[in-house]
Amino acid sequence: MNTSDTKTLHTPVMLQRCLELLTTEQAERGAIIVDATLGLGGHAQHILERFKRSTVIGLDRDPAALTRASERLASYKNRFFGVYAVYDELPEVLEQIREREGITLPFAGVLFDLGVSSMQLDFAARGFSYAQNAPLDMRMDQSRGKTAAQLLAQLSGGELATLFRRYSDEPLAMRYAAAIVSAREEGAITESAQLVEILQRATPMKLKQQRHPAKRVFQALRVAVNDELTVLERAIPSAMNSLAVGGRVVVMSYQSQEDRIVKKEFAQRVRDNTPPGLPQQLPEHAPEYRLLTRGAEQAGAQEQETNPRSKPVKLRAAEKVR
Ligand SMILES: C[S@@+](CC[C@H](N)C(=O)[O-])C[C@H]1O[C@@H](n2cnc3c(N)ncnc32)[C@H](O)[C@@H]1O
Repeated sequence: MNTSDTKTLHTPVMLQRCLELLTTEQAERGAIIVDATLGLGGHAQHILERFKRSTVIGLDRDPAALTRASERLASYKNRFFGVYAVYDELPEVLEQIREREGITLPFAGVLFDLGVSSMQLDFAARGFSYAQNAPLDMRMDQSRGKTAAQLLAQLSGGELATLFRRYSDEPLAMRYAAAIVSAREEGAITESAQLVEILQRATPMKLKQQRHPAKRVFQALRVAVNDELTVLERAIPSAMNSLAVGGRVVVMSYQSQEDRIVKKEFAQRVRDNTPPGLPQQLPEHAPEYRLLTRGAEQAGAQEQETNPRSKPVKLRAAEKVR
């Protein structure tokens, strides 16, 4: 794949809205903006174009994504730094780059575009997609951790059911877990087509017409393989702690579990924590953030039509006020 293919692969979701929300005096004057989920560098490139005095630090835990994005953004060499890291490492990465490059700009914006990239989904060999047969890997970083096939082999029926319920609200969690346990007695489940077939067989006819039986199970396995929710629970607070006053955090989630984590963290930060009964607000208990979005925003109808990946998105943003 060459760089021009890379450019056409991913249409950044809610791009204009993200740029609008990241627009602050600091970003215009020159600041550090972190793209915590660099992917193919789609959002990052537009951020670099929009805020010409700002520096972008892009993180990704997938070395293949990082290589492609770094190739794409090579011409911004003094203003773009790509880093192989999990996004809960953001404060340490920020510190290291600041020190190494001697950057004193304030940290004024952070974007999280959660989940997998179109490249990860489209390249069958990664095993993320139930639509194409491939080894059941699903690791965003293929150099570490257990694969989906290993989880399917090692977890008990009860653990599998909990995983499907917790990470994707799968109503047939018990049934699917039992089907997997009985199928693996016949031989290891190592390929996505095998798993799809097991799930298809375990799904009642009338439900098969409503949605693809494998959709939620694949999602749950991916979340578990990459420990996505635990990492997100650490990453959002640490990014919000690190931002400068006036800085903004923008998060796009694609599943309800992710959005719940973001919503909860934002709610805590915008609350006035003055103990009840006191006659006036205490400055040290005043809200630390203000919300920039009313509830969660979705992509417009036209974008949803032209870019199906934008359909489930929920965007939330907040600004640090003290
Ligand atoms: C939806 S894509 C981002 C696409 C990007 N905004 C663009 O315009 O090209 C999400 C990316 O985040 C990465 N990612 C997911 N979880 C991560 C984590 N915990 N730490 C670092 N990167 C992560 C994935 O590897 C993937 O490349």
